Amino acid sequence: MKKVSINTLMKWKQEGRKFATSTAYDASFSQLFEQQEMPLLLVGDSLGMVLQGQESTLPVTVEDIAYHTRCVRAGSPNCLLVADMPFMSYATPEQACQEAATLMRAGANMVKLEGGSWLIETVKQLTERSVPVCAHLGLTPQSVNIFGGFRIQGREQEKAEQMVIDAIALQNAGAQLLVLECVPTSLAQRITRELDIPVIGIGAGKETDGQILVMHDMFGISANYMPKFSKNFLVETGSMQKAIQQYIQDVEAGVFPGAEHSFE
Ligand code: KIV
Repeated sequence: MKKVSINTLMKWKQEGRKFATSTAYDASFSQLFEQQEMPLLLVGDSLGMVLQGQESTLPVTVEDIAYHTRCVRAGSPNCLLVADMPFMSYATPEQACQEAATLMRAGANMVKLEGGSWLIETVKQLTERSVPVCAHLGLTPQSVNIFGGFRIQGREQEKAEQMVIDAIALQNAGAQLLVLECVPTSLAQRITRELDIPVIGIGAGKETDGQILVMHDMFGISANYMPKFSKNFLVETGSMQKAIQQYIQDVEAGVFPGAEHSFE
């Protein structure tokens, strides 16, 4: 695979070419993903749930993410590698810069932060200091205790409007990618059209520029349960290589996610 940069994804957005991405946590799987030309891998703090067996992502530390970022980078030298900033590692812009440096040194090309307008100054400071940022709106799992559970976000008109405002403000502050998680398809479509930067959805319908899945969900091996928005690609293909190929093909063809994986 040729080296992927944010410019690659920007070009694809402009061309209307959809792309599939995944989480990854180790060198063996990241190598497998690279062999199938997966352009972007995310070392998600979902590792707290799928690797560590925790009930939420809150216990994950910067050291955990840095360790797995090194592992993933070793297996995939060419992907655009995004590392999650875990809970309470970016409470202030200063702290965010320090902790992001650890993840960039571990091999990340970009860091991902969960939240809306309160992050504007942080996004500005990170990008001014050469740390590319992926924003994350909608069901932001680090806020599970504020939301009172893992719930769809943006169904109410007022909350939907605020999400649009936040997305534009984050882009204007310098964010170069946006993840939208568990929001109605129509809202994700509106945000994707309004933004110049690529929007990657998970449980956000098929109108976003890209899709992301937690890799354990893609293979149907998550410890706890299979979310509605995900699909077990292994069961119908019989091998991990073929499952990844099928996922990529289905996203590029606009077949996945279907209505049954999406929210209104
Ligand atoms: O932590 C994670 O894996 C994520 C994805 C679900 C987008 O944030």
